[in-house]
Amino acid sequence: MIIAVDGPTASGKGTISRELAEHFKLPLMDTGLLYRAVGWTVKQIGGNPDIEADALKGCIFDDDLLRDPALRNEDIGGYASKISVHPAVRSALDQRQRDFACQAGGAVLDGRDIGTVIAPNADVKLFVTASPEARAVRRFEEMICSGEQVNFDDILADILRRDDRDQNRATAPLKPAADADLLDTTELTIDAAVQQAIALVNAKM
Ligand code: C5P
Repeated sequence: MIIAVDGPTASGKGTISRELAEHFKLPLMDTGLLYRAVGWTVKQIGGNPDIEADALKGCIFDDDLLRDPALRNEDIGGYASKISVHPAVRSALDQRQRDFACQAGGAVLDGRDIGTVIAPNADVKLFVTASPEARAVRRFEEMICSGEQVNFDDILADILRRDDRDQNRATAPLKPAADADLLDTTELTIDAAVQQAIALVNAKM
């Protein structure tokens, strides 16, 4: 069984994907980490993430990097969002995601274009959303708890900028597949969102 989970940043899709993988005993790929690894590498080599040739150089990275907590930093998220608009970067990362999706026994993949591009034949497609304000509150609380000095308006502005870039890029924009189930987590606790996601998957089995 292939489960595709797409949605914008801080929608809850990461937690939902982890819980689905655990519940249904499936391997999980957080595809955002691949884009973050490219963004991190471009930053290290002093490349310009807006230039496709520079962004492409970042596609050569060691897999150990995928375990580095530095990839989770906000500024690397910004780099990832910029390098991910380039078609050559997306195609450099495509096969790896498709192979993961097609492994025997199935998989859960968390991303932006899993249900539309990477695994259009996925058995289950969830599109997880929440209002930008709710997502900014979550991100704000997460960062405050980890001791960072942050400003709510800056976080909201960053989320809106990333949404705009992800939704309006020409290649593989963030959008629900025509046959995706929508899960709006704005008013839900994470536990309730996970329970709804499990119910949606069970309904397809
Ligand atoms: O999900 P995460 O925030 O880690 O993703 C970082 C960035 O990578 C996103 O803002 C998006 O631009 C890009 N991305 C993508 N396609 C994916 C996963 C992530 O374009 N499948």
